[in-house]
This record gives sequence, C-alpha cells and structure tokens, in this order.
Amino acid sequence: MENIWKKNSWRNYPISQQPIYDDKNLVKKIEEEIEKLPPLVFADEVRKLKKKLANVAAGKAFLLQGGDCAESFSDFSANNLRDSFKVLLQMSAILTYASSLPVVKVGRMAGQFAKPRSENLELKDGVKLPSYRGDIINDIVFDEGGRKPDPRRMLKAYSQSAFTLNLLRAFATGGLADLEKVHKWNLDFVKQSTKSRFLEIANGISKALDFMKACGLDNKNNSKFGQVDFFTSHEALLLNYEECLTRTDSFMGGWFDCSAHMLWIGERTRKLDEAHVEFMRGIENPIGVKIGPKTENQYLIDLINKLNPKNEPGRITLITRMGAQNLSENLPRLIEEINKNKKIVIWSCDPMHANTYKSNNGYKTRSFDKIAEEIEVFFSIHKKQGTFPGGIHLEITGQNVTECVGGEQKIREENLSDRYHTHCDPRLNANQGVELAFKISEFLKTN
Ligand code: PEP
Ligand code: CO
Repeated sequence: MENIWKKNSWRNYPISQQPIYDDKNLVKKIEEEIEKLPPLVFADEVRKLKKKLANVAAGKAFLLQGGDCAESFSDFSANNLRDSFKVLLQMSAILTYASSLPVVKVGRMAGQFAKPRSENLELKDGVKLPSYRGDIINDIVFDEGGRKPDPRRMLKAYSQSAFTLNLLRAFATGGLADLEKVHKWNLDFVKQSTKSRFLEIANGISKALDFMKACGLDNKNNSKFGQVDFFTSHEALLLNYEECLTRTDSFMGGWFDCSAHMLWIGERTRKLDEAHVEFMRGIENPIGVKIGPKTENQYLIDLINKLNPKNEPGRITLITRMGAQNLSENLPRLIEEINKNKKIVIWSCDPMHANTYKSNNGYKTRSFDKIAEEIEVFFSIHKKQGTFPGGIHLEITGQNVTECVGGEQKIREENLSDRYHTHCDPRLNANQGVELAFKISEFLKTN
C-alpha cells in the first residue's frame, strides 16, 4: 500500500539534482507568492492532450515533441518563439503526410528552465564554481554571484512561461498555423535541397492540399484549417516550483501540475524511491520518462506500476535516449517486457542525448547523421517487434544556429563558433529540423 500522496509529500524523500538555497525564508516567501498566481495551463487542456496521447499509444497518431534544451531569460523574444513554433509546424506537416496520421505537437517550451547536470561544479581557468542549472535556478555567467541559486528566479520563469504561452496560443489559432503557409515554407526549403526525394514528398503534399481545396476543405471555408492544438512540456526537475503550480481541478477533481500540459522525469532523477517519482505519481498530467541503455526490465515495470497503476492510455511516454548501437541492443528486451506485462505506453525516441560529444575545437555538439541514424534504428526495431514507433523528442530551435554538425547545410566543426547560442545542449536548427522530418518520412515509407 502506497503512502498517501500530497503535492508536498515529495519533501519526505531523498532528492537529486536540486539547488541549495542559502535563504530558506526567501524560498518560502517566493513559494507562497507562486501559490497565489494563476495556473499556466488548465486541467481540461491536460485531459485533451492525454486523450490525444492515448491515440498515439494505440498507433493512431504520432507525437512530435521539441524545443530548446534550456529556455533562457536572455534569448526570449517573440521572433525566436515564432520561428521555433514554425519549424515544429513544418515538420508536423511533413510527418502527417508521410504517416497519414495526425501529429500531436508538444513544445519543450514555456517552462523548460531547470537542468540536471552531470557535475555539481564547473572548473574554468583554475576556478571552481557551482554548475549552471538553468535560468530558473542560477545564471550561466561564470562568477560567484551568478552561480548562486536565487529563488526569485522562479518568479521570472513563471512570468516568462506566461508570456510564452500567451504567444503560443495566439500562434496556434492565428495565421501562423495555416497549413498552406506552412507548406509554402517547406517548398522554400525543398528548392534549396539537392535531394529529389524531398521534392517528391513536397509535391505529394501540394497535390493533397489542392485536392482538399477543391473539396472546399481550406482556410476560407473552414476556420479549423488555420488552427492547430499545441501543447507545452518541460522536465519537472525543480519540485519547489512544480508543487506551487499543482492545483485541484475544481470541476472534476484530481491534481494537475498546471505549469505545463506534459511533464517528464529525466534520466538522472527517476529512482523509484526518490522525490521526483513520488511527486509525479500523484498528478494527472501525461508523464514522460527518459530511458537510457542501463534501464533494467523489472525496474521499468515497477516504475510504470507506480506512475500508472491503472494502466491508463496516454499517461506514460517512454522516451528512449541510448544512441543507435545501445538502442538496438536494449530496446527489443524493453519492448518485450512491456508487452509481456501488457503495459500501455508510447514509445518515443530522443536521438539527442546519447549523441553529444566535444568537437576538436571545444564545442559540445551532435552530428545530424547520428541523430538520423538513431531514429532509423528506432523505427526498424519497432517494425521487427510489431510495435508502434510513437514519437520523437528533439532539441531544436527555429533560429539559424550552428550547434549540430552535418545536414545538407554541411555545418562543420569549424563553423560551430559562427552562431553557437545554446544555454545547454546543442540544438538542430530550422533547416536541419525540416531535413530530418523529410528523412523520417522516408523511414516511414520503408518501415
Ligand atoms: C534533457 O532532455 O534536456 C535531458 C537532460 O535529458 P536526459 O534526462 O535524458 O539526460
Ligand atoms: Co538537453
């Protein structure tokens, strides 16, 4: 029998990856302030996402989750946000066409501010300071003041999340979501591409749009065609913040973490008897869990029993992040275990986090080819196992950054310094994202 869950029961458990605040009274004061602020998302929206994810679990839709590794206070701008939203929509149009399935769109946005770190301390020129843990906790600037955790940052993260959501809601219902416009951006991409296969896919989409238009199914006749459902997500790492935004649904009951529609638990904080799993088991939101190659079969079943005892569809998304080689060695056994225990899950692929390396000129980077390879392996394993490859989870931005090498743009290590802006891990840029969507279309065709 589990202990009774409360939104603060996580405080009775060991916890990893948290800041140590000096001024405990200030933390309490900020928490009380956030408790009084309105929810950022609403229970009904969360339930809507869960229904859509239940369709993904049943193989009737595909999940596209993506955005910054770490959102930052300094890079926040309407244009950056617009461009990231835009690239996710472009990818989604390609994937919808290729899979003939609706694509559930979930941003790593409006709250992705807290980062787990492998090292507690960072060493630079002989000076050791606490690692940067995301803008909700401390500053990326390497000095003593900057790296001190400051609870007031939680308020700023809340405000920026509210501004972000306001824009995302406007983009999702305003002109940006018009399918014809989105397709035009993809045609612009294809014009620069050397791959004739991409042009074939794009022409197919053009024909499908023309057909829909001829049937009267377009923006002019039906306002739904200019709108999309767009959801938000982040890693539920800083539990002080998550607790303050956890509210009961006054109509239907249940506890919802209203900081985002979907929350995930990272690879470093998902121990069965620790605080993060305790917190997550009590909220109603859809939950992602990052799964590395060392994940044991029995652990995975125990974790799911804890987080989803009723085996509710749409509740659990298992996000594998292993690298192509480890994925082929470990995903089959995990799939078999899940099937044997009749657990309903979404299988999603994060091809980013096991493919990070340091370039010769000292940048943390990832190779486009390795990212594509991990996704290809993911699709082919699911085909062999007869299971559904439900989604992908990416670190991506709409800005024209040079953070990941490769792709048709042929970004090389010596180009990384041109526009390397990330606050944490390297992201795909807009062109690399669209190119990846076209590549995935090909995997979908062959799988
Ligand atoms: C992340 O998604 O940014 C992250 C830190 O992932 P993981 O927990 O899988 O390392
Ligand atoms: Co990351």
